Amino acid sequence: MPPDLDPTHAPAIAASRLSKIYGRGNTRVVALDEVSLTVDRGEVVALLGPSGAGKSTLLTAVGLINPPTAGQIAIGGVPVMDGDRALVDVRAFRRERLGFVFQKANLIPFLTAVQNVQIALEINDQPSRPARRRALQLLDYLGVADRADHLPAMLSGGQQQRVAVARALANRPSLILADEPTAALDSRRGRQVMELFRQVAHEQGAGVLVVTHDHRALDVFDRTVEMEDGKLRPASPPTQTPAPSPTLHGNQNES
Ligand SMILES: Nc1ncnc2c1ncn2[C@@H]1O[C@H](COP(=O)(O)OP(=O)(O)O)[C@@H](O)[C@H]1O
Ligand SMILES: [Mg+2]
Repeated sequence: MPPDLDPTHAPAIAASRLSKIYGRGNTRVVALDEVSLTVDRGEVVALLGPSGAGKSTLLTAVGLINPPTAGQIAIGGVPVMDGDRALVDVRAFRRERLGFVFQKANLIPFLTAVQNVQIALEINDQPSRPARRRALQLLDYLGVADRADHLPAMLSGGQQQRVAVARALANRPSLILADEPTAALDSRRGRQVMELFRQVAHEQGAGVLVVTHDHRALDVFDRTVEMEDGKLRPASPPTQTPAPSPTLHGNQNES
């Protein structure tokens, strides 16, 4: 299927027959075996599956971090990978259009919490004052505003992770990829993060793909897909409609 040329309607992710082979000879591992996946704009999709199934490999391929061996990827209608060949400037594309949350927060250790979020905006040429304002709003929404001027080492694992989520959302990415983002959070905070993703998807029209093991929060997702042995299983039935989540703008002031 050719990518939709209208960028406002093209899916957030259109991945077609992705394969990834690690190693060679007797260390050869087929981590992705012709995986095809579409995530629409405004859609929040959970990616489930046992350890070693290929979830992180799929996420990092779609996130332009770890090129597939074969297959095609289009993001927001833009063809970005053909096999292991990049069709765009991947660093600029990642910086401007993608938001990542990994299992570990990976914050810059010598920057404060707010600076860690701010830098994601400044690197995209946002002036520093509005960048700081937006960074503080996001930290506030995530319940870590009181730690804005703390260095990562002074934050708990859960607080660091919430700063990492704020950083991933800072540029209003059109695609958010998260790999077990709530592993370091208690179930209430974990659910809040999932609900925030859902809200960003529904309000900003972003596509969201989240690897998760937390079955208690699956009702937040529009859809779940499951991987095993490098293959996607047929889609499970849609989960029940979740309760409305609080709005992102509810507790923020512009000035
Ligand atoms: N850099 C790598 N080199 C070799 N094999 C790898 C590498 N990364 C992942 N694998 C293998 O690929 C398979 C899928 O791994 P991964 O995508 O991390 O799975 P998941 O995230 O579902 O646990 C596993 O068998 C894993 O051991
Ligand atoms: Mg993984």
